[in-house]
Amino acid sequence: MATTFCLINQKGGCGKSSTCMHLAGAFAELGMSVLLVDMDPQGSLSQGFLGSEMVESLPSLQTTATLFDENSFFASHDALLIPTPFERITLCPANQTLARFNAPEPEKTGMVQFALREFLADQHEFDIVLIDCPPNLYRCSWTAMIAADYAMIPVPPEDFGTQGLRAVHQCVRQARKLNPKLSRIEHLITRCDHRLLVHRMYEQKLRALYGKTVLDTIIPEASAFKVALTRRRPVQLHQPRSKAAKLTLSLAREILERISMDECKRKVA
Ligand SMILES: Nc1ncnc2c1ncn2[C@@H]1O[C@H](COP(=O)(O)OP(=O)(O)O)[C@@H](O)[C@H]1O
Ligand SMILES: [Mg+2]
Repeated sequence: MATTFCLINQKGGCGKSSTCMHLAGAFAELGMSVLLVDMDPQGSLSQGFLGSEMVESLPSLQTTATLFDENSFFASHDALLIPTPFERITLCPANQTLARFNAPEPEKTGMVQFALREFLADQHEFDIVLIDCPPNLYRCSWTAMIAADYAMIPVPPEDFGTQGLRAVHQCVRQARKLNPKLSRIEHLITRCDHRLLVHRMYEQKLRALYGKTVLDTIIPEASAFKVALTRRRPVQLHQPRSKAAKLTLSLAREILERISMDECKRKVA
């Protein structure tokens, strides 16, 4: 069974899509088979791998929009699984066709809120699933939370980055009522510049407030991430010796450790 993470935060620009892309490279490097699911109508993650022209021209049937479409609700969604140029990384892309389904008040949307969970339950060949969410807590993020084992919240350590975290936590608690296995929240400090006093202070504040739910590994602000993105490659596969790649690999390892510790705890309980 794959372990599924949804990357959520109602803030844009905090690193959700980048984290999905680069972490996928790190997990693949560690020999794991990764499924990336783009649930953001902006399709940034998909464009990161496939380029904007290709992504914009994809028909709805080949995007995650098809999961919400009543006409294809019971159809096979195999066309959604698009191989990337990289071994062990598969992508379910998204584009603007998803926008009309991303309505507010997602908990009022009936069975469709389970559509992503049902789809993922049929995908047996993956070890890790990373779901990239839009910068709001509407239906796309909600269905991702209903489908996930973990909610990962990327947080830049500064005022704008940390605003709105309580709303995200509350939404996770709500989703847990429908998906009790959404057991853990992980906060990931991203886009951090340790030369800045304000970033160091916010890191301490986040650790004091959220304790062990804050991952030890910190992802720095680094040009290697941006350069790799322009080459449409996860940093691990573009500049494996860069500090950015090494830290992303540490993050992947830390996440795997946490997963296996949780599994041990579950077995003991
Ligand atoms: N750690 C980082 N270092 C440098 N640039 C980053 C980093 N994380 C994200 N970015 C850049 O910031 C922008 C927004 O990041 P993105 O992952 O798209 O955020 P989100 O998906 O949360 O909206 C992108 O241009 C991305 O390349
Ligand atoms: Mg994004």
